[in-house]
Amino acid sequence: MKKVVISTGGGDAPGLNAVIYAVVHACYRRGWEVYGSKSGYKGFLDPEAMVRLDLHNVEGIYATGGTILGSTNKGNPFAKPVENLAGEIQIIDVSDKIMKNFSRMGFDCHIAIGGDGSLEIAHRFALKGMKVIGVPKTIDNDLEATDRTFGFDTAVSTATDALDKLHSTAKSHDRVMVVEVMGRDSGWIALYSGISGGADAILIPEIPFDIDKVCEKIADNELHEKHYSIVVVAEGAIAKGGAVFNKGTGELGREEVVLGGVGEWVASEIRKKTEKDTRSLVLGHLQRGGSPTTFDRLLALRFGTAAVRLVEEGIFDHMVALISSKMVAVPIADAIKSRKKVGLDNDKVLAARELGICLGD
Ligand code: F6P
Repeated sequence: MKKVVISTGGGDAPGLNAVIYAVVHACYRRGWEVYGSKSGYKGFLDPEAMVRLDLHNVEGIYATGGTILGSTNKGNPFAKPVENLAGEIQIIDVSDKIMKNFSRMGFDCHIAIGGDGSLEIAHRFALKGMKVIGVPKTIDNDLEATDRTFGFDTAVSTATDALDKLHSTAKSHDRVMVVEVMGRDSGWIALYSGISGGADAILIPEIPFDIDKVCEKIADNELHEKHYSIVVVAEGAIAKGGAVFNKGTGELGREEVVLGGVGEWVASEIRKKTEKDTRSLVLGHLQRGGSPTTFDRLLALRFGTAAVRLVEEGIFDHMVALISSKMVAVPIADAIKSRKKVGLDNDKVLAARELGICLGD
């Protein structure tokens, strides 16, 4: 008999509920108890935020977006912002308290579902002696040590669907449409959706772009009697010699990068340089919403059940990963070493070039 606790941390991604469903089912088959900590680690500090999960709680959730446990990207227990009596924000470390409560509550193991930030926190707890298993989540697909994270396929499908819809309106008005997509400092979402959604130009953080090259592509379209163009811009894309567009406010006493704004800048430059009627839109959090695609659901269900097998085998401080279509375990430390970037020799980059898509270089 084991007592397992699950948490979901960082930005939500479609498939989180499918992992929770899988863990609860796989544990139930083994006669183990499962609990869920709400809003990341809140359940370890507040008993009301620690909930028992059974088959009834998770019925049908594998097909739903979001997370039934709630999530936060402001909940790092090693640097938790709290307001003191004077109304000032102080950063405190509550990790020892969480370790004590973890043992007091009688947990054998913690399955932490998250991206690089949450997995780094999970690893720090593992170093303090917590038995932890990581499950890789992020729509950005930027985690090293796994071919895919769940959430990415759904985000790409949403972005591709948006591009399909923009074609008809762009064409009707002979316009340039600039679409900003998420992905932090990796261009995976932009590249996959841009190729699949027939973009004329795709700008990714890995290839600093020259706006004149994008304008040349638009002019070339005109020459070939194509009077509209679609430009996909990753939120972390950078113009040659420029800087990333950061809307971060440093609220809660932390330096925080909040990407956004590059799409509007690209649109205004195109408008100026080509005199084409140009509009921009930001897909934003739409990419994180909705039901997981079949691919993400299946991946999340595989990850969740594989995580429970690791608990059984006693392999901790590891993350479940998808490598060459197989479920494997990799040390969390390896997964968080660096972020996975689009390589310039990646076949999707080569495919984009062959298709005549401008990459801004
Ligand atoms: O990491 C997932 C992600 O959606 C990024 O693509 C994006 O930059 C960021 O999170 C947005 O975070 P928030 O939900 O805090 O706006």
